[in-house]
Amino acid sequence: MDEIVNLCKRRGIVFPSAEIYGGFRSTYDYGPIGVQLLRNVREAWWRSMVQLRDDVVGLDAAILSSPKIWEASGHIDSFADPLVDCRQCHERWREDRIAGSCPACGSKDLTEARAFNLMFSTHAGPVEDESTLAYLRPETAQGMFVNFSLVATTLRRSPPFGIAQVGKSFRNEITPQNFVFRTREFEQMEMEYFVPPEDAPKWFEYWCEERLQWYVDLGIPKEKLRLRHHGPEELSHYAVQTADVEFEFPWGFDELEGVANRTDYDLRAHAAASGQRLEYFDPVSQDHIVPYVIEPAAGATRAMMAFMLAAFDVDEVAGERRNVLRLHHRLAPYKVAVLPLSKNDALAQLVSKVLEMLKPHYMCDRDVTQSIGRRYRRQDEIGTPLCVTVDFDSLEDAAVTIRERDTTAQVRVPISELLQEVSGRLDC
Ligand code: GAP
Repeated sequence: MDEIVNLCKRRGIVFPSAEIYGGFRSTYDYGPIGVQLLRNVREAWWRSMVQLRDDVVGLDAAILSSPKIWEASGHIDSFADPLVDCRQCHERWREDRIAGSCPACGSKDLTEARAFNLMFSTHAGPVEDESTLAYLRPETAQGMFVNFSLVATTLRRSPPFGIAQVGKSFRNEITPQNFVFRTREFEQMEMEYFVPPEDAPKWFEYWCEERLQWYVDLGIPKEKLRLRHHGPEELSHYAVQTADVEFEFPWGFDELEGVANRTDYDLRAHAAASGQRLEYFDPVSQDHIVPYVIEPAAGATRAMMAFMLAAFDVDEVAGERRNVLRLHHRLAPYKVAVLPLSKNDALAQLVSKVLEMLKPHYMCDRDVTQSIGRRYRRQDEIGTPLCVTVDFDSLEDAAVTIRERDTTAQVRVPISELLQEVSGRLDC
């Protein structure tokens, strides 16, 4: 874990937010490499959940949201953690995460637990009173429920079909921890799949398997993943069935994503509160039916961390230790780095020509500082699958060397065939 946190800072992946002021309450900024990696996680999710399917459409709902949504959804009443204060050192803890004594000072003198609502509130408008109260959404899911009818009507959909969304969510977590695993500002990738009520158990199983496989297809070894079904005492207020896709983090198996059978809880709640009908017409039974919802809900920032942990490897190249991020090519921040053997105008011009050829197709880096060996190490550490080296012979033979990250094997190819050679080697 320490190696990943250190690598993230050293290589421009994740920085502590407001670091020049000593940091700010477990918030993080994604640097130039991290922003690319996170974007690739999102895009891989969108590709699999929307682009490659006929039955799912996308949505981007507002983050700033009406209290009416959260009243109806039950979040104002139920989205709370039990909080206790230590009377000795005044630290504050989640009661269900500590074993009856303060983890900071060991005192057992704790207050009674109080419900602490996790939603961030603010005011939308110049007046700060009840009339302008707004919430930052604590999940993207409600955007899909309140837009259910608009999407179904405008896109002419009826169950089974899904609405997918990727975006920021906010929770005033009492104990943010483990780097970007649990933060107050984070990113979710959620899909609400609306189904005929009697088909819900079948679709729940389907989505559990699909979602587990997504992580495997993107390079996480199967033995580092598992599905864990929730017992009745663990279910959220809206769910009758939930299974977590868990990953083996350095501290043990923990949640990557939750798949829940939310029944018709949310649509019925919003229909009752808004007075609108949130249902579909079933031509067979000639009935208006409120669909059930199967929800695979993943964290993009948490997934990014898991992909990095699973991909991190240390091996030896020519007797030297190297760190290498064996990321799936689809996730790699840069697909290709183009490296001139030395700083020389003629080589620089050829590098520009090579980049002009590759950049419209792939995210590329031009890396010119330090020795070629160090540059290979740097690219290995951020997971770049291919390095293309331009040397003095390239000026004569119009060829360059491709080096592969995983094997460090090198092959000389004519520049005229480079794009084809690169495409053939990239799995994305
Ligand atoms: N709509 C259902 C829902 O939000 P959740 O289990 O609370 O369910 C879904 O959240 C996923 O969002 C989690 O599995 C996790 O990956 C991510 N997530 C939740 N809270 C988070 C936090 N504080 N920091 C980072 N990721 C978080």
